[in-house]
Amino acid sequence: MLWIKALHIIFVTSWFAGLFYLPRLFVNHAMVTDNDTSERLKLMEAKLYRFMLPLAVLALVFGLWLWLGYGITGKWMHPKLTFVAILIGYHWYCGKLLNDFKQNKNQRSHVWYRWFNEVPVIVLAIVVILVVVKPF
Ligand code: HEM
Repeated sequence: MLWIKALHIIFVTSWFAGLFYLPRLFVNHAMVTDNDTSERLKLMEAKLYRFMLPLAVLALVFGLWLWLGYGITGKWMHPKLTFVAILIGYHWYCGKLLNDFKQNKNQRSHVWYRWFNEVPVIVLAIVVILVVVKPF
């Protein structure tokens, strides 16, 4: 079980590296005026997003394995799964925003992206407290 939990934490951490960095690229992209930099950011964003999907899937597979395979659960699991659903929605929305930049259709300011970038930080803090402290 501990190997599965270790793999769960490894892939959660790797997925979060992308969830933190991709919106940061969007912050910079929303401030860019020259085409060369914009094209380079598009490439970086697309590569990073492509990389994030298998990491997310593996993080969730090992989490489900711990929950359904080993039966580790509790009242804390319900809000945890709610925040996991929010993270999946956030990941998907990053894909939509990536397409907006790709088609030069981004409407949002760098200030909006700076606030958007804080969402995974808040979700990570809440989920880690729920699963480690298990407050209920
Ligand atoms: C389908 C989604 C997920 C499920 C079903 C799930 C389930 C679980 C379960 C059953 C455990 C073991 C808890 C224990 O041993 O006490 C666990 C550990 C953990 N999960 Fe998840 N998890 C999921 C997604 C996530 C996500 C998205 C994060 C990060 C935001 C996360 C962070 C953690 C951490 C940090 C631990 C280790 C806690 C410890 O060692 O005490 N999990 N998860």
